[in-house]
Amino acid sequence: MIEADAGVRSAYTARADEYTGLFGSIEAAHPEDRHLVAEWVRTLTGPVLDAGCGPGQWTGFMADNGADVAGIDLVPDFIAHARIRFPSVPFNVGSLRSLGVPQGHLAGVLAWYSLIHLAPENVAPVLREFARAIAPGGGLLLGFFESGELRRFPHAVTDAYSWPVDRFSGLLETAGFSIVETHTRSDAGHRPHAAIIARLTSE
Ligand SMILES: C[S@@+](CC[C@H](N)C(=O)[O-])C[C@H]1O[C@@H](n2cnc3c(N)ncnc32)[C@H](O)[C@@H]1O
Repeated sequence: MIEADAGVRSAYTARADEYTGLFGSIEAAHPEDRHLVAEWVRTLTGPVLDAGCGPGQWTGFMADNGADVAGIDLVPDFIAHARIRFPSVPFNVGSLRSLGVPQGHLAGVLAWYSLIHLAPENVAPVLREFARAIAPGGGLLLGFFESGELRRFPHAVTDAYSWPVDRFSGLLETAGFSIVETHTRSDAGHRPHAAIIARLTSE
């Protein structure tokens, strides 16, 4: 495992119970985000991966919405929590950098706030891995912190980055995706949020 991922793993491992208590229930998610994910996943036919699933609340939610979904995360404690809470859903320790599925296997990938700790130069290789793993025409839904300029900031668990939507969209297009929808939201007391729905171009 590369050093940066080892740092993310140990930072989340130290706070896995706390994180699960705060965010591990789908009811803690914003209603607009639940609506977005539920509508998106219903457009997909075939296997879906929750990449960087944390304690698995979105994976369980997508399963409840009819998806054939699995979750992977770097942090064994999250995977252990997720397996107990959602026993009918497959969860495995794994990395965004190598999803462990054949080329074109997936109908879609959800990466909900799981790319936020990647150094900017490491985002493009992860998006290329998503493009390898997703079938042509398949979907990708990303959630992340939004800002007018790319910024590194001291996230509560470990340093993270916030991104302009246009800049992230450009990386997605370079990796072979077309942008379907973008969403932004600023709620008092929270960092600005963005979501992008993209589709892998067909040829
Ligand atoms: C902010 S949490 C989001 C977790 C979950 N998606 C959610 O919405 O609660 C970021 C997650 O990404 C995972 N993560 C970060 N880098 C990763 C990597 N390289 N491979 C797999 N998981 C990673 C972390 O372990 C952590 O669970």
